[in-house]
Amino acid sequence: MTLVAGIDSSTQSCKVVIRDAETGKLVRQGRASHPDGTEVHPHAWWDALQQAIAEAGGLDDVAAASVAGQQHGMVVLDEAGEVVRPALLWNDTRSAGAAADLIDDLGGGDAGRRAWVDAVGITPVASFTLTKLRWLARHEPENAARVASVCLPHDWLTWKLGGKQKLFTDRSDASGTLYWSAKTNEYRHDLLELGFGRRIAVPEVLGPTGIAGHLPNGAPLGPGAGDNAAAGLGAGALPGDVVISIGTSGTVFVSSDVSPEDPSGAVSGFADCTGRFLPIVVTLNAARVLDAAAKLLNVSHEELSRLALTAPAGADGLVLVPYLEGERTPNRPNATGAVHGLTLQTSDPAHFARAAVEGMLCALADGLDALVTHGATANRIVLVGGGARSEAVRKIAPALFGLPVLVPPPGEYVADGAARQAAWVALGGATPPQWSAETPEVYETTPVPLIREQYAQARDRVVDRPGG
Ligand code: XUL
Repeated sequence: MTLVAGIDSSTQSCKVVIRDAETGKLVRQGRASHPDGTEVHPHAWWDALQQAIAEAGGLDDVAAASVAGQQHGMVVLDEAGEVVRPALLWNDTRSAGAAADLIDDLGGGDAGRRAWVDAVGITPVASFTLTKLRWLARHEPENAARVASVCLPHDWLTWKLGGKQKLFTDRSDASGTLYWSAKTNEYRHDLLELGFGRRIAVPEVLGPTGIAGHLPNGAPLGPGAGDNAAAGLGAGALPGDVVISIGTSGTVFVSSDVSPEDPSGAVSGFADCTGRFLPIVVTLNAARVLDAAAKLLNVSHEELSRLALTAPAGADGLVLVPYLEGERTPNRPNATGAVHGLTLQTSDPAHFARAAVEGMLCALADGLDALVTHGATANRIVLVGGGARSEAVRKIAPALFGLPVLVPPPGEYVADGAARQAAWVALGGATPPQWSAETPEVYETTPVPLIREQYAQARDRVVDRPGG
């Protein structure tokens, strides 16, 4: 049996799966936690990776491995390859002002956003790497002066696994930096210089089966991927399948032949990891909205779900706008969450639980609308991520998305996508190997427009707070 390893270094933890390259059968797996926070030292990811690899029985017998990971995090290295400061993660919003400045630099307002979309397919928001580099240059000039190169979390881990030979990245993750274009497949060193103030080294961008180094046993390391692109590959999404992932972030994306052009910034023109594009909408508030609601009500997740399903659709007008960590789509980095429609009737745990589930899903439904407006074909939803474990989420989702919702069995789809990429590297061929997928559960119901309407009204009353 030819074995391959897939790694997911996500915001909250590191997962390793070892699978049979030909069939995809799971052979072994391991996992370890990451520290909390939006600023994390990469050494903590490395320690967690070592622990997860050990729990998965090691990598000595694999024929290839790939690393997928949380996107956009700024990992800055000095001349000697040492980490200059802890990484600022995708959900760290301190660079919101830097994002606004970058838009101003290219003309400001709509013209500035349009110029960024034309240049790199995305518009600056606090998540993207270049905004963090600009923040660093302005707020920590001494650290900035030591920076010789910048890379992303998955690039850094791949580099370490391969014995620190040379930095590589892949198209999917490079497309979330603001200094690489998925359309032209080229770096924009001029924009990197515009943001950071000088040119620094960047990883070489590999195609879908490029080799990024070798493990100590000689097995090749694949190019890796951003976690969303990897989840699409791991979940085996077909054309017209929009993947909605409810993890630490909420993401709505589809693999496409066409790159979207959305100067509003709602839909980003990322790349996927098969050589195509990955139009995507990302929210900062997803599974943790459910965590917060369960904590507030002092109940388990199972009880939160049960409570939500006992309240009526629309929670009798109670609406939760879930901007618990600011928000990225819509771009309100300093906004806070809000509850609208409290009455004596709605002041109970069941209504609140329902409003939390509906609020989180409505934000994702807005993302689905934006994706379709920008040309995506949406026939079905494939729902993955920790949030999909909630029965209430699974049952309420089709009423808000207006499409059949397929829920594959709970799994590590990002790590699986990385494993499938590794299998592609190990086995060769023009397309990734076909792995048989387990049958998903299918949820369907009639759409309930009222829920979206009352959410939209409440959402539009929540404005960003200047400066945070
Ligand atoms: C994508 C994004 C998040 C992170 C979370 O743009 O910021 O999905 O990749 O892991």
